Order: sequence, then structure tokens, then C-alpha cells
Amino acid sequence: MDNEEILNIVTVGHVDHGKSTVVGRLLADANGLPDGKLEAVRENCRRNSKPFEYAFLLDALKNEQAQGITIDTARCFFHTDKRQYIIIDAPGHIEFLKNMVTGASRAEAALMVIDAARGVEENTRRHGYFLSMLGIRQVSVLVNKMDLVGYEQRVFEDIKAEMSTFLDKIDIHPLSFIPVSGMEGDNIANRSQRMSWYSGPTMLQQMDDFATVPPPERASFRMPVQGVYKFTANNDSRRIVAGTVESGSVRAGDEIVFYPSGKKTSVKSLEVFNAPTPERFEAGMAAGFTMNEQIFVRRGEIACRRDEPAPQVGVRLKANVFWLGKQPFDRSRRYYFKCGTAKVEMALESIERIVNASTLSAGQRQYCEKNEVCECVITLERPVAFDLAGTVDATSRFVIVDGYEIAGGGIITQAMEEYDYNTRNIRWSSGGVTGEERRRMSGMKGLVVWMTGLSGAGKTTIAQEVERRLLDADVLAYVLDGDRVRRGLCADLGFSDADRTENIRRVGELSNLFRDAGMVTLVTLISPFAASREQARKIVGRDFMEVYVKASVETCKARDPKNLYKKALDGHIPNFTGLSSPYEPPTNPDLVLDTEKWNEEECVEALTAAIMARLEDKTI
Ligand code: ADX
Repeated sequence: MDNEEILNIVTVGHVDHGKSTVVGRLLADANGLPDGKLEAVRENCRRNSKPFEYAFLLDALKNEQAQGITIDTARCFFHTDKRQYIIIDAPGHIEFLKNMVTGASRAEAALMVIDAARGVEENTRRHGYFLSMLGIRQVSVLVNKMDLVGYEQRVFEDIKAEMSTFLDKIDIHPLSFIPVSGMEGDNIANRSQRMSWYSGPTMLQQMDDFATVPPPERASFRMPVQGVYKFTANNDSRRIVAGTVESGSVRAGDEIVFYPSGKKTSVKSLEVFNAPTPERFEAGMAAGFTMNEQIFVRRGEIACRRDEPAPQVGVRLKANVFWLGKQPFDRSRRYYFKCGTAKVEMALESIERIVNASTLSAGQRQYCEKNEVCECVITLERPVAFDLAGTVDATSRFVIVDGYEIAGGGIITQAMEEYDYNTRNIRWSSGGVTGEERRRMSGMKGLVVWMTGLSGAGKTTIAQEVERRLLDADVLAYVLDGDRVRRGLCADLGFSDADRTENIRRVGELSNLFRDAGMVTLVTLISPFAASREQARKIVGRDFMEVYVKASVETCKARDPKNLYKKALDGHIPNFTGLSSPYEPPTNPDLVLDTEKWNEEECVEALTAAIMARLEDKTI
């Protein structure tokens, strides 16, 4: 074939409106059939005394490969002088969804078939809604079976008007409405002599007029990991990460990040099975590569390039869901969410709006029935990487599995919560209750106030007074005090550098849980090492404040409230901070409380005010 260009077209419409006949007729009239096929099918019909139908051609071609034509269950390959076509049939809604979402096909255009005698039906409109939701904007409407209505222009115009009005509301503006007869061959590949009133394109001309939507080549590289395979040869420990490149491209040497794990490596070599290795893998290709670091990645992650924008990662997302399940989509059930190659448990958190896909009437309730579309928030059981609708189809579309059946599907419109794979900071906990929900209920926002400073600087004294002030202001606060933590949670730790680091790590993790629970947590730890404090900030994420409670060793020595400096100077306490163990003051703290210049009251005031300001910051 001269032209390598491929266009994917999906045919949609009510089952009985003649999609197969139209496509069968197209193949027959546009020389798309293997030699003798038409005659063989006609002959077969004669022998079985049943009238010949063009739709039978499709059945007869199934799984047959001849002259480059193949028809598998849902796809038919066909070409014109201009280009090759993959015509995707979508017998029902579920098949359509499956096709569109599992990435088996990427429709760039759609042919919508309507029976002229029966007119626009519910399913016709629903299919239209699907197209709109999935962002397929190149649409042509075939008003079929014109032979049954005497090729009457009025019938055609009425359907055209009705369908245009509907499609307009869902933002689809068809390129053409074509009166056709699949049965008689009118305006399929050949211009009809029976509808001189029509001067637009035939179905075939319209197909050639569709523009190809280039694969998202310039979009960022996305390869959902299908699996990781080991080379089986002896002593070969390399592993191949395999999947289909859904967008962008990758070549050897590229630095790669897998999401949601955030693991990094670089591509060592591209690998293909039984074929020469290309210089790079591009969108649409089945790909495999080996890595320079033997990191552990698994199916469900998305391989991305480090030099390109990262995908979204999260456990809560906003989506438009088309529901097809017999049981309503509701909040009491658990489902599976499948996006790319990931499959995780999910629940419906809330529905913002419900639309009937046929009548477009909108409503508001917290469950969604069959053939309704809802704008909703979905909560996932663990983080998944995805893109937003309108970028990469395969990673922004998903299906919902109820039990063993696909019960719905949709597109992701928004990531509800930031997930920082570095901090592992996901605002979600067991039982599916999210931090957001908890905050909404209690009106509280968690915050970690990390108070660092020498022993005797005044951390605990200030923290306890601030705790009281906050309580008086109806803000629940809690002091996680170093001395107390060391009696319980960290009773096994001493004051070596390693033990202090571990102490700070544990309290960092603990304070993050307190924060997630909605508590303002005042941590009072000497936390002498800048790196450890930085680690705590990473664990907690953005709701973290570093407060330096400042006092020099001399001052602390003079105060010596617990008589510890004296003991240490007398040699009874080894590794004492400020004397025999270092203290690294913060270089860029959120707040400094200089206890040598300010009295206790001033420090308490300043810290309380800073905390209240952070809590009032509306960016929760
Ligand atoms: S940290 O360095 O690991 O952050 P943390 O704040 O938990 O220290 O504990 C400090 C408290 O432990 C001090 O207030 C003091 O009461 C007591 N302590 C006992 N030994 C030491 C020591 N060698 N250095 C500092 N504080 C000590």
C-alpha cells in the first residue's frame, strides 16, 4: 500500500439501525472485499434460502485474512487510495466503552447511523453523549434506510434538525448529515441517483475528508507497564519492562520515572520481540526496555520521562462517569477502577450532578442509575497515576468494574488532592474517609509546628502555653514533647547521632498522622540536625512550619532548668547537645522565637498568631 496513513473510525448507533449493512456495503462497493467473497456469501444465502444482506459480509470476513483485510470481533480493516481505515464497531454501550477505554482502539472520528424510518432513539442520543464525553468531535451522521422512506428529503431534514439540536447541546457539531441506504447502496461509495436534492459528500468521501488526529507524539511519554519480564538465559539478570506506548516517545539513555512509585532509572536498551530494534519507541508501539538500575516496578505503574511533565498521582479524583450497570452506582459499594494497566479498589465518594444521557435532564442525588452520567468524586484505595481528559486518552479514561462486569466508564477531569510521591503524603486513610472529609466535618485543619532549639531554650514552655491559647480559641492542639516521647514511643533510643535521627524520623511520622487526624501538633524536639528536620518536613508536606526557639548555649547553661548542663559539664551526660554534640541552627525557619530578646509572653503571642494565620489560609 502506498499510503501508510491510518484513520480509526468508530461506528455508533442503535443496534437495529443498520451499522453492519452500511459497512458491509462500503466494503463491497469500494472494492474492499477479497475476490469472490461477495459471490460466495450470496451463494451461501441462496443455498440456505435466506435473503442476502450486506451485513453478512462482515460475519463472513471475521478472522479471515486475505488481501490485507481482517475483521476481528470489533474491527474491520479497509483502505482507499487516500489511506487505511480501521472501522471499529461498537455493538453495544459496554463494548463501546471497553473499546474506547482499554486502549484497544483510538477513534479519531465517528459515523453515527440512524434509521430513517425509526428516527432518533434513546440509544442514538446516548451514543452521541459517549462521543462527546470521550472527546470525539469529528462526527458524521448517516441517515440510513432512506429506501424505506421513499428517499424523502423531508424525513431526512427532520432527523437532521432533531439530531443537530441534541448534538449541539453536548458540543458535537457534525461535519455532515448524509442520507444513505446500506441495503441499496445509495451515497455509500457511490452517489445516489435517487436523492438529487442532496449535494453533500457520500459516506466514502466523508471518510476521506476526516482529518487524522496525529497520535499524541508531542505529548509526554506514557507507557503503562503491562508487565516486567526476566530474560530467561543463564546468568542474565536483566529485566524487561513492557507495555504499549500511549503517547510520546522514548529512546535508550532516556531518564525514566515510574509513577505512582516515583522510582527512577534510565533506559539501557530498547527491546522488541522477533523484530529489529527501532531507534525509538513511539506512540502506538508495543515496547519493552531494560533499565540501568534494577529497580522493582510492577504492572499498573506508568513509565514517564524525567524531562517531561509528570502525570497526576492521587487517590481522589473528579470524573465524568457513564453508568451502565444493572445495579446503581452508589456509595455503599466497592468497585474496581481500571485505568491504563492499573486496577485498584475504589468507592464513589460523592455525586455533584447527574445527567440523563438521552434527555439531558439534570438532577442531584447520591446514586447514579443505568444510562445516566454523573460528575462525581472517586476515592481510590491506593495511589494511581493518570492524566487529565484531553491530554492522553489511554491514561485519562477508565472503566469501573462491579463484581466481574464492566459497569461504567469515564474520563478523569481533575485530581482532587495533591500527592507528593517524595513525601508519600496522601491525604487518605483506612476506611476510605479522606482528610478532606474529616476537615469538612470537624472544621479543623492539621498542621505540624516543628519547634527546634537547644535543651533549655524554652520549647516546651512556649508550646504548652500556645496549646492552651489555641484550645481557648477552639483549635484542638497537642504537644508532642521530646521528653515524653522518649519515655514511650522512643524509649529504646539514646542520644547517639543515629538514635537522634531515628527519634526525629519517628516523631516526624507520628506528627504527620496527628496532622492527618486534623490536629495542630506542636513538636518540641531539640532535633539538632538540619537534614533530619528536612526529612520531617518532607514526611509532612506543605502543612509544616519550622520554628526556631533561639537561645545560645551560654543562655541555656545559665538557665539550666533541669540541671542537665551542670551534669553534662561534670561529665555525667555524654553527647550533650551544645556541649559535646552539635546543634545545627535552622538556616531558613518559618519563624524565629528569640528567647533572649523576647519574654515568654511575646514568644507565645508570636507563635499563636503565626499558627492562626496558617490555619486561616484558605488553601487547605
Ligand atoms: S533530640 O536530639 O533527639 O531531638 P530530644 O528533644 O528528643 O532530643 O530530647 C532532648 C531531651 O532529652 C532534653 O531536653 C533532655 O531533657 C534530655 N537529654 C538527655 N540526654 C541528653 C543529651 N545527651 N543531649 C540532649 N538532651 C538530652
